[in-house]
Amino acid sequence: MRKTIDHILQQLEGFRPGTLSQVEEFRVQMLGKKGMLTRLFEDFKNVEPEQKREWGQLLNQLKTKVQEAVKTHKAQLEQKQEGAAATDDLTKPASFTHAGSRHPVSLVLREILDIYASMGFAIAEGPEIEDDRHVFSALNFAPDHPARDMQDTFFINTNTDNPILLRTHTSSVQVRTMETKIPPIRVVCPGRVFRNEAISARAHCIFHQVEGLYIDKNVSFADLKQAILLFARRMFGSSARIRLRPSYFPFTEPSAEVDVSCNICGGQGCNVCKNTGWLEIMGAGMVDPSVLEASGIDSQKYSGYAFGMGVERIAMLKWQIKDLRLYFENDVKFLEQFFLW
Ligand code: PHE
Repeated sequence: MRKTIDHILQQLEGFRPGTLSQVEEFRVQMLGKKGMLTRLFEDFKNVEPEQKREWGQLLNQLKTKVQEAVKTHKAQLEQKQEGAAATDDLTKPASFTHAGSRHPVSLVLREILDIYASMGFAIAEGPEIEDDRHVFSALNFAPDHPARDMQDTFFINTNTDNPILLRTHTSSVQVRTMETKIPPIRVVCPGRVFRNEAISARAHCIFHQVEGLYIDKNVSFADLKQAILLFARRMFGSSARIRLRPSYFPFTEPSAEVDVSCNICGGQGCNVCKNTGWLEIMGAGMVDPSVLEASGIDSQKYSGYAFGMGVERIAMLKWQIKDLRLYFENDVKFLEQFFLW
C-alpha cells in the first residue's frame, strides 16, 4: 500500500495536462472503477483494525488531493478554451457593457455653454449661498418690492441688514462680475438656484439657470435680439424664429420675455405650445443704468444686455419632457435615453 501511495503522489506532482481529455484520463486512472485509488480503498478493508485510523486518514487526504487536482486543471483548461474561442471569431458581437450616460440637464447645459462660448462668452460662477445685496438690492429690487415675494426665497439669516439666503436666480453672478471686472464683459453664468415652491410637474425648489451678460460701449437691443436668434437656431434648429414680448424685471429696461417658434409643430399650433405656436424660453433686457452704477460701472460710457433661462425648461422643450420631477428621481430608465447628438 505504501508503495502505491508514493506512486500516486509522484504522479500527482508531475501531472501537467495539456488537454481536457488528458485530465479525464488521469481521473479514470485514479478514481475510475479500476483506478489506483479505488483499489487502494479496497485493500484498506484488509488493514489491521488498530492501523485503520491512520491509513484511513492518509487515503482520504490523498483522494481529496487528486479530486482537487482534477477540478483545477479542468477549470483552467476550460477557461483557456473559452478565451481562444473569443478571438477565433472576430465578427462575434461584443459582450454588452453598461455605459453610463450624462444627465439631460448636464447635456443641455453643456450645449448652451458651447453655443455662447462660440459667440465669445466666458463662463463666470458665483456662490449658491448669497446675500440680499447680490440677489436683490444691487439688482434694483426695492426693499418692499413685490418681486422679492414673487421669488419665494429660502432665507438663512435675516437678523442682519444684508440677509443671507439661497440665490433665487443666477443674476447674482451678474452683479459679482460687474463688481470685479472692467468692461467689456461678456459672460454666461450657469448654476443652481433655489425657490421655496411646492414640488409639482411644473415647479421645483431646485433648478438650473444660465444667465448671460454683455457690457461694452454701444451695446444695443438689436445686439441682444441677434444673439438670442442665434442661440435659438443653434438649440432648436435653423428654422427657429423668435418673438419678444414686453415684460418687466427690476434690473433691465426695457425687458422682454422671449418665445421661440414651437419646434414640434413648427408654429402651426399643437398641444405642446397650447396652440399658440410659441414656447417661452427666457427673460432678457437692457441692463438698467442704475444697476450698472450700483456695481461701479459708468452708465454714461457703457451699456449692456442680460438674459436668463432655465436649463430644465430648455431640456423639456427639446425632448418634450413633461414632468420636472423626472430630473431629480434618477431613474436610470429615464436618464439613459439622452445622448449628446
Ligand atoms: N433672473 C431672471 C429670473 O430669474 C431672468 C432674467 C435674467 C431676466 C436676466 C432678464 C435678464 O427670472
